[in-house]
Amino acid sequence: MSQAPNHHSTANLSPDTVVVSAGRPPREQDAPVNPPIVLSSTFHGTGTPAPGDRVYGRFSNPTWDPFETALSELEGAALPALVFSSGLAAVAAALSLVPAGGVLVMPQHSYQGSLLLAAEEAANGRFTVRSVDIADTEQVLAALQGSAGEPGASGPADMLWIESPTNPMLEVAEIDVLARAAHDAGALVVADNTFSTPLVTRPLELGADVVLHSVTKYLAGHSDVILGALATSDEDLRSRLHNYRSLHGAIAGPFDVWLALRGLRTLALRIERSQATAGLLADRLLGHPAVEAVRYPGLPGDAGYERAVKQMDGFGSILCIEVAGGAEAAEAVAARVRLWLPATSLGGVESLIERRRRQPGEPHSVPENLLRLSVGIENAEDLWSDLSRALAR
Ligand SMILES: Cc1ncc(COP(=O)(O)O)c(C=O)c1O
Repeated sequence: MSQAPNHHSTANLSPDTVVVSAGRPPREQDAPVNPPIVLSSTFHGTGTPAPGDRVYGRFSNPTWDPFETALSELEGAALPALVFSSGLAAVAAALSLVPAGGVLVMPQHSYQGSLLLAAEEAANGRFTVRSVDIADTEQVLAALQGSAGEPGASGPADMLWIESPTNPMLEVAEIDVLARAAHDAGALVVADNTFSTPLVTRPLELGADVVLHSVTKYLAGHSDVILGALATSDEDLRSRLHNYRSLHGAIAGPFDVWLALRGLRTLALRIERSQATAGLLADRLLGHPAVEAVRYPGLPGDAGYERAVKQMDGFGSILCIEVAGGAEAAEAVAARVRLWLPATSLGGVESLIERRRRQPGEPHSVPENLLRLSVGIENAEDLWSDLSRALAR
């Protein structure tokens, strides 16, 4: 009997095709074109489990596989990605790779949950954190070497954490240079790629060892699930991260992962639209009398512009503005908009606006009057007229 053609290879296809075609079930008569949701906590098996056997739902689930395959193809990882119960669960798993007593170099403006978790690990004596301005390459190189009179442990770092662009300051890291220096110092490189998505930045190609996502954001894209993911091409690292996920129970529900794959199918269209609108809004906000500063790596005057042109395909769909009149004026803008939704998070089809310092955990180096704008896929002129009306009052 001839074998039905199985999964087709998505090698050499464009990323905007991969998001649609990766992770489909085998092409067989009457097979579904979408993967089914498998609701089972356990799987048939006898005898000693062989590597790759499913065994139990804390180790694997068939509904995770297509999403994990699709994400690894998009990130250029040689091994299937690992989906987690949240972005922060993925952060915790990645941080578990820092050895006890080791040193973590971390951007001062990483996502606040990542900062808080690293600070807690440090307070518990598990490792030391060296906080850096990730856009200042010389400063990061010094912190990797431990030669800058750093507090706490001396000597080279064990892990470099990269977020690029950072949340919410939108600083752009020189990923390839930093990754090379980290490896020279013997450090692993983890890159949180949530803001960019693999359609805009591919950190593994630039030298990172592990790429991290809050899948909650752009990948799932509809603000209806909380999920995370890690991808790597290193067998040993993947096995340690998989082990972490199984032992800590940081696993995702099958339905949520199915929704994430459904969302991923439109990622390219959503990013294309939201990026174009973000660029247009950034241009119009520049020089607006109610706006003291615009942060967006796509503006030629932005500190991250040249790096972004070199290492990104586009500039992302988040921009930040600093509103004239301080925190109160910024809060008032977030309260006055009618189409933009005043809420935390980002990366959904709907546009969100938030004064980040309303969150008690946000670093105090983030300006009080900074509004983070997550640009969605609504009509650009509707978004502009709503925002400019709220700014004009
Ligand atoms: C850059 C970044 N990394 C990680 C996370 C954490 O992800 P989650 O909320 O899915 O746990 C977030 C959430 O806002 C984020 O913005």
